[in-house]
This record gives sequence, C-alpha cells and structure tokens, in this order.
Amino acid sequence: MKGIILSGGSGTRLRPLTKITSKQLLPIYNRPMIFYPLNTLIKAGIKDILIIVGPERAGDYLNLLGSGKEFGVKFTYEIQDQPRGLAEAFIIGESFLDGEDVTLILGDNIFEDDFTEAITSFEKGGRIFAKEVPDPERFGVVEFDDAMKAISVEEKPKQPKSHFALPGLYIYDNRVVQFAKEVLPSERGELEIVDLHQRYLELGELDVRTFTGEWIDAGTFESLFAANRLAQEKLHKNLVI
Ligand code: TTP
Repeated sequence: MKGIILSGGSGTRLRPLTKITSKQLLPIYNRPMIFYPLNTLIKAGIKDILIIVGPERAGDYLNLLGSGKEFGVKFTYEIQDQPRGLAEAFIIGESFLDGEDVTLILGDNIFEDDFTEAITSFEKGGRIFAKEVPDPERFGVVEFDDAMKAISVEEKPKQPKSHFALPGLYIYDNRVVQFAKEVLPSERGELEIVDLHQRYLELGELDVRTFTGEWIDAGTFESLFAANRLAQEKLHKNLVI
C-alpha cells in the first residue's frame, strides 16, 4: 500500500491567509496543517508517500518535509500544474504507484480516528468513509439502504439524499489509475473523485465505512478555528510526527 497526499488547490476561501502561502502549510496549533494527514498515513504504517503540490509553493514543501528520512518514511514530490480535480491525483501518481494499491488523503483533512485497521485489511476494490454532518451539501454525499449498504454517491448535491458526507480519505486498488484516465471533466472543469466512487459502486466493489471520531475539512475560517481547538485539546498527544 502506497500513500498520496494531495496538497495543491487554490485556498480561495481562506484569503488573505492563503495569499502568500499554501493552505496546507498554515498552522494548526503546533504543526503545519499537512502534518495531520501525514500522521494519519504514517500511523497506519504507510512508508512510501507521494506529496502532490501546486507549482507556486513546491519549494516550501521541500524545505519543510525533505526526504522523509527524519520521520522514517520516504517522500516523493509531484507538481499539479492546475487544480484539475481530486481524481487527477491518481493520473499524476501512476508511475509512483507502479501497480500498487493506494490510500489518498487530502492535505486539509484532519481526523481524530486511527485508520490502521481499515488500511491494512484492504484487499480489493474501493474503501471510503462516511460521517454524518449538518451541512452535507458542501461535500460528496453517500446514501445508504437499511442494511447500511451504499446505494448512491453524489458530489455537492443541492438536495442531499442523506447527511452522510465523504471525507477526504480514499483507499483504492490500482485499477483506479485507469478509471481516473476515463473520467471526463465535470461542469466545473474538474476530474471528480465521485466518478471513481461511482465506478466502484457499479462494480459492486465500493465499501463505505462510518467512523466515530471527529473529522474536520479545514478549508473555511470556521473549520480552521475548530481544527486548532481539536489539535490543542486532543490530537497533539497522539502525533507520531
Ligand atoms: P478544496 O478545498 O475543494 O479546494 P481549494 O483547496 O482549492 O480551496 P477553495 O475552494 O477555498 O479555493 O480542495 C480540497 C483539497 O484538495 C485541498 O487540500 C486542496 C486539494 N486539491 C488539490 O490538491 N488539487 C485539486 O485539483 C483540487 C480541486 C483540490
């Protein structure tokens, strides 16, 4: 299992904080934001991690994180020239993955839970996660049947079919690279990750798991503030890097 952390994007909702730096380098309590998703991967035993960044701040990421040796892991870097969507991570990462399975995490997603079991027990298909939120229209949304089997996935629906959002942590087998190449850009011009969930759902190979701990997508001022509080109150005691 290899890891990819997607840390590009424009961060427009956090301006002016993101005018001179990347969102995922902003401080969350006593660490740069990207350390939290990196912790999630490293704690789960992933040692080979591709960091995808935008072109403007690539040097800052190299200065901050280096080779990974300091943390007992290996970092590889790639540039995403334009924020063309989350699914592009698998196309950019094709040669890095070299046929292996992948856990993709977004650089601004902060989790309280430990995902070691979900990652190490993965065998085939897709495994993604769901969390009940008050504002599902901001996220990918999954609908479950009575047996909690996923029956539909939608990206930022105006009328969500449930309150279960899909956080930025996705485990896929290597077929995802080919599937990503077949995705067409959406109306907003992005390669949508929901199209990949859909593909695995149609194959009957999408496992969607709920989890209990807190999850914060730190892309707004409110959620950035909440992330600082969560890190200060709980997370900082359990970090490995
Ligand atoms: P978003 O928060 O949806 O987008 P953004 O970071 O550009 O912020 P804003 O909407 O405020 O302009 O992206 C989610 C995460 O994915 C975030 O960590 C940035 C990353 N991302 C990429 O690295 N490349 C992409 O093409 C996209 C769409 C997002």
